[in-house]
Amino acid sequence: HAAEAQRTDLMTITRHVLNEQSRHPESRGDFTILLSHIVLGCKFVASAVNKAGLAKLIGLAGETNVQGEEQKKLDVLSNEVFVKALVSSGRTCVLVSEENEEAIFVDPALRGKYCVCFDPLDGSSNIDCGVSIGTIFGIYMIKDKDNVTLEDVLQPGTNMLAAGYCMYGSSCTLVLSTGNGVNGFTLDPSLGEFILTHPNIKIPKKGKIYSVNEGNAKNWDGPTAKFVEKCKYPQDGSSPKSLRYIGSMVADVHRTLLYGGIFLYPADQKSPNGKLRVLYEVFPMSFLMEQAGGQSFTGKQRALELAPAKLHDRSPIFLGSYDDVEEIKALYASES
Ligand code: AHG
Ligand code: MN
Ligand code: MN
Ligand code: MN
Repeated sequence: HAAEAQRTDLMTITRHVLNEQSRHPESRGDFTILLSHIVLGCKFVASAVNKAGLAKLIGLAGETNVQGEEQKKLDVLSNEVFVKALVSSGRTCVLVSEENEEAIFVDPALRGKYCVCFDPLDGSSNIDCGVSIGTIFGIYMIKDKDNVTLEDVLQPGTNMLAAGYCMYGSSCTLVLSTGNGVNGFTLDPSLGEFILTHPNIKIPKKGKIYSVNEGNAKNWDGPTAKFVEKCKYPQDGSSPKSLRYIGSMVADVHRTLLYGGIFLYPADQKSPNGKLRVLYEVFPMSFLMEQAGGQSFTGKQRALELAPAKLHDRSPIFLGSYDDVEEIKALYASES
């Protein structure tokens, strides 16, 4: 009987957020409305990703973005979808996207109190071969929406109110935290609803997997090189770790969150600040990791305490199981 009740008691993401928001009487449903527009964007991109190969949506868009990357058609399409969905929600006043050089200040008539930083299509290099890709987002509150400036956006990650990602893989999974733990929802295409499938996700305290692009090993600094060496040739008699690297941050982080282990995109001589962008990759994933009982470190400090100076600032990142990140912190501490 309980199974039957469970089956018909659909916990959709909207219902789940409404329950959580009831703990914040001051928010008059604005956050729930904002989230429903983000969810709409994810559903749209999920359907576009599923038919990308058929709908001639793979390949290059013929433009390059501020990162100097050639934009894929799906990068551009998903960016347009999220910008329009967020603006039309009437709950945002400024947006930061990987695909837009400047911050997008919403028309004053349509402004709300939130800032959303997002990576509309993460893992673009995997689009054309059908490997999992995703969308990453982080949400801030803006003090005075009618006088919002760039400074309001360049906040430390500790001010983030909520963060999440949607992974477009064998199933479409949305992982979200509003500051009270992490929950995972799976899209039921027959309903067009995200259903709670992974309540209260906690990352294992220690893992057996390390996730890094070994192709950059030549350029790593001492502590990173030592850490990876220890993963492959452990000195304490334990068995070597497994290497898993998909190349889409969303997919590598999702596996790390569920299975445990550590994901690293370290600095190297070519890119002293690593590759991943602070506002819409490092902060949201660090927020989620901490909410799930893990941690996230830049090589110098707790990642969420970074204060970006510019919109597309990058940072080295080591995130995942609590004990695994402790090891990398000890190596950097002994080096400094
Ligand atoms: P994006 O596609 O949004 O530009 O992000 C790509 C990022 C991230 O998804 C992934 O972890 C990393 O690039 C992989 O970089 P390498 O190919 O250098 O390993
Ligand atoms: Mn990119
Ligand atoms: Mn990305
Ligand atoms: Mn991207």
